[in-house]
Amino acid sequence: MKFGYFDDKAKEYVITTPHTPLPWINYLGSNDFFSLISNTCGGYSFYKDAKLLRITRYRYNNIPADSNGKYYYINDDGVIWNPGTMPSATETDTYECRHGLGYSRFCSSKNNLKAELLVFVPSDASCEINCLKLKNNSETEKNISLFSYVEFCLWNAVDDASNFQRNLSIGEVEVQGSTIYHKTEYRERRKHYSFFTVNTQVDNYDTNRDAFLGAGNGNAFPEAVCKKKCSNSIASGWYPIAAHQIDLTLLPGEEKEFVFMLGYCENPADDKWEAPGIINKTSAKALIERFNTMEKAMQAFAELKNYWETLLARFAVVSENEHIDRMANIWNQYQCMVTFNMSRSASYYESGTGRGMGFRDSCQDLLGFVHLIPERARERIIDIASTQFPDGSAYHQYQPLTKQGNLDVGSGFNDDPLWLIAAVAAYIKETGDYGILDVQVPFDCKKGTEVPLFEHLEKSFYYTVTHLGPHKLPLIGRADWNDCLNLNCFSSEPGESFQTTGPSEGPVAESVFIAGMFVKYGKEFEELCERTGHTELAKEAGKAVDEMYQAVLDNGWDGEWFLRAYDAQSEKVGSKECEEGKIFIEPQGFCVMAGIGKEEGIAEKALDSVNELLETKYGIMILQPAYTRYHLELGEITSYPPGYKENAGIFCHNNPWISIAETVLGRGNRAFEVYRKICPSYIEEISDIHRTEPYVYSQMIAGADAPGFGEAKNSWLTGTAAWTFVNLSQALLGILPGYDGLIVDPCLPETFGDFKVNRHFRGADYHIEIHKPKGVQKGVRWIEVDGERINGNQIPMVNGRNEYHVIVQMG
Ligand code: BGC
Ligand code: NOJ
Repeated sequence: MKFGYFDDKAKEYVITTPHTPLPWINYLGSNDFFSLISNTCGGYSFYKDAKLLRITRYRYNNIPADSNGKYYYINDDGVIWNPGTMPSATETDTYECRHGLGYSRFCSSKNNLKAELLVFVPSDASCEINCLKLKNNSETEKNISLFSYVEFCLWNAVDDASNFQRNLSIGEVEVQGSTIYHKTEYRERRKHYSFFTVNTQVDNYDTNRDAFLGAGNGNAFPEAVCKKKCSNSIASGWYPIAAHQIDLTLLPGEEKEFVFMLGYCENPADDKWEAPGIINKTSAKALIERFNTMEKAMQAFAELKNYWETLLARFAVVSENEHIDRMANIWNQYQCMVTFNMSRSASYYESGTGRGMGFRDSCQDLLGFVHLIPERARERIIDIASTQFPDGSAYHQYQPLTKQGNLDVGSGFNDDPLWLIAAVAAYIKETGDYGILDVQVPFDCKKGTEVPLFEHLEKSFYYTVTHLGPHKLPLIGRADWNDCLNLNCFSSEPGESFQTTGPSEGPVAESVFIAGMFVKYGKEFEELCERTGHTELAKEAGKAVDEMYQAVLDNGWDGEWFLRAYDAQSEKVGSKECEEGKIFIEPQGFCVMAGIGKEEGIAEKALDSVNELLETKYGIMILQPAYTRYHLELGEITSYPPGYKENAGIFCHNNPWISIAETVLGRGNRAFEVYRKICPSYIEEISDIHRTEPYVYSQMIAGADAPGFGEAKNSWLTGTAAWTFVNLSQALLGILPGYDGLIVDPCLPETFGDFKVNRHFRGADYHIEIHKPKGVQKGVRWIEVDGERINGNQIPMVNGRNEYHVIVQMG
């Protein structure tokens, strides 16, 4: 069952009912100002950091589930309704929500009054614009009262929820004309503030929540809306809001339009403005001036659309498969951008207060984003590397606003350092910018500790080399990619958080997954050493990689698949000898992606075991059999009921690893099958089972052991986005950036025919036509570039050429 449809031409998903199984959301903003918005107008906004600079308030875990947003209420002859239907929940006669790239549109009508709302964040301004049009489609004149409503959050979202006794006395507002300023904290000389304004004169306003809603009332039917009268209240402490009242008359057929704006401003720190109790509004006025007519707003909207068109055009495929085209050209890339911006901080499942930017997460997100805005990827790499410790280990997360490592979470995840190599290698392949390796980057953000980025990579590499266990495999530390496999936390007390307790690294517990990673990214490091003239280092690195390869063959192979780990007692994890959790997906994917076992003929076996033991109709489960009881020696992973999350859920993130691994073996049919099963567009038809948004990936789909088999959770902020884009664009469609040029090496099902790809790479546009006879899965026979055959499948770059026409013959 579906709740909408894809409109590919408009690059939108059209939701046709407000009653989706869960809120289906979108993200607005691409630089500093961000908003989340659901298909019923729920959501919130923040500037740079969802924890420290939260502009509007949201209530997680509330009832109804999607509580609070930026709302417009219409009182049309006593009938109160909202364009997105919430919070009144009044059923409208028509309803449509279109989520597009960086904007959402709502169109609904009730009693012949039509409301069209367009919500977006301009590409270069710190504000959200809401264009609202009301049209009277009836035969008689309508006298309507329109109300706007936003509830301010008092900046620090953690304080706002935890130390609210203080917050209840600090809220301050100021009203000037139609602009309501929220200036809490301004008196502490934090020269920032926000405001909510509309480009028309208002009849009344409210800034005190209780005055607007009525004490003790919810926000479904505010007292002021029912009475058609705001009381011009000025909040002092308690709960500051911004609500406008606009009374209007609409003749039959008449339409009126308004531009509302929620803005965020910072005045320079040395601003001498000291007028007591009043804020310096210069910045706000300039911002308002930029967008205060429908023409100006629509111009900004056109620029936003153009921004996305240009960006996404950097990779575009035309094939015979609409799912592939839609995901590659629109939604997958879009989700990559969102994960790059948000990491795992703010979604409808991540509170925005607990987690900032992940070291591991952001490095991986970059793999799917680097082709879009390489300059921002570069900056991100430097930010991430700056939080690394001198021994190569790393803070697991850092705060986006301060860019400082997060002390509460700390370090000790032993896969973290290697992801930095993955990110930097991907960046240099995309851009050819070896100069990044010379950038001076500090350790732990401390001045005076700067060394060239290259040395950070060296530290990353040697962190693994110097942290090996009894089987010569990498020590796992607190956990590796699988946060919940806590092999050293057996001493933690019941009720303690798994990830913040226990010894950070025992001398014994080892990870075969990190071993696979080390072989894959260790080879990348070796190559980077060679290419930058570090010949001795390259040799040493090559030797360490070979030894690790051998250690995996000797101690990491279980007969039919790769082992997962050794626990703190040196007992096998993910082995046929185990009672539960006999096989895990992660090492199968990573070891084969690294090429381990290919020559020895065991890689195929590992992937066949995945197919046989972990496959379901909804995707591949992370492990089997599910853990049915708590295992002290394994930690959080066994705390989940069977079939959920890391305990045998279909953890989408590692499904593309298997698909990519299949392409390493040239098995296009199977690689595509794995891709297809969790692909949002392919499973749109089962939206009633899947339940999360059908246009993006979710972190997890409940596995076969769970009562909710097939039901997804935790949509949007997942490494699945980046990895599936790598899977689709590089492994399946086979367009890969290489150090010396673009490489073409598709691996697709036999039934897949010819296709074309346009790829922007290092300042040039590549127009690639791929002729793929049916029956073929992998293998390039010849390539012609601008009429000339080339050797091999890497397209040589010609100085000064910015257009390449490439014909590829597979077979
Ligand atoms: C989840 C993991 C997540 C971790 C992050 C765990 O509870 O299961 O998926 O990575 O929390 O803190
Ligand atoms: C989600 C986390 O963000 C990611 O870092 C981790 O690898 C996976 N969960 C698996 O535990």
